[in-house]
Amino acid sequence: MPAPAALGAETRDPMIAIRGLTKTYGGHIANNAIDFDVFPNEIVALVGDNGAGKSTFIKMISGVLRPTLGTITINGQPVEMSSPSDATKQGIETLHQNLALVDVFNVQENIFMGRELQRRIGGVIPSLDHAEMRRRTIALFEELGLKTPDLNKMVRALSGGQRQAVGIARLLLESDLKLLIMDEPMAALGVEESRLVVELIMRLKEKGYSVLIISHNLDHVFQVADRIAVLKNGRMVGAVRRADIDHDELVSMIVGGKMPSRVAA
Ligand SMILES: Nc1ncnc2c1ncn2[C@@H]1O[C@H](COP(=O)(O)OP(=O)(O)OP(=O)(O)O)[C@@H](O)[C@H]1O
Ligand SMILES: [Mg+2]
Repeated sequence: MPAPAALGAETRDPMIAIRGLTKTYGGHIANNAIDFDVFPNEIVALVGDNGAGKSTFIKMISGVLRPTLGTITINGQPVEMSSPSDATKQGIETLHQNLALVDVFNVQENIFMGRELQRRIGGVIPSLDHAEMRRRTIALFEELGLKTPDLNKMVRALSGGQRQAVGIARLLLESDLKLLIMDEPMAALGVEESRLVVELIMRLKEKGYSVLIISHNLDHVFQVADRIAVLKNGRMVGAVRRADIDHDELVSMIVGGKMPSRVAA
């Protein structure tokens, strides 16, 4: 097991341990020897200026990009992930900004897309089991503690927050989910909808999942995160417990690229 990385980390074994993670594009170093851990049942926010390397970092953890250098260890086992389905096998799912929903499908069609449930009419003729998919969809929303949207509506008619909920419900269908990664889930949302997503993240924490969330909105970060990690120019400035830092100190970390003196001491 690699030694704990980053200040503010815990003494428990990490769920995922990242060491020396590096990604270069030609001569440009997008991620430079990043060490970082995420612990079980922890919400970590990843922040940093535009171009700091946040999306590059999560793409390597979610199997979208191959690291140039470095290791990823999950529950003590080194892993190589060359596709998002490799990450899924490790219990890592990523909710991308576009959510990968089909606008003209309804809620349950989106949730079960590619893994539709079937039944046999008269024990012979295969047919889609709409009733069971509907029942399971309602159960998923109940599990998330959310109001079930109108299941007959196409998802393009839902609010941004409801669409996020559909995206998450779809990922929860994968029963092995351990870490959910979200890249700017509140970016295009209004106040009320962002609140719904904050609630969703808190609910995932209650359910025992870990969440790694990228956000530019520091108010949201302070609402949801147990720990906040800062990237600057491709390097990990550090990670601090939310309780150990205030808003202004976090801004200085993002802009100045240094740990706050009272935390670093
Ligand atoms: N495919 C690529 N080819 C070349 N350079 C890239 C590529 N993808 C990202 N970069 C560069 O790597 C750096 C980090 O980009 P990244 O998208 O990870 O930043 P980010 O922190 O997610 O920024 P933002 O907050 O704007 O989304 C940037 O300088 C970017 O221009
Ligand atoms: Mg990005």
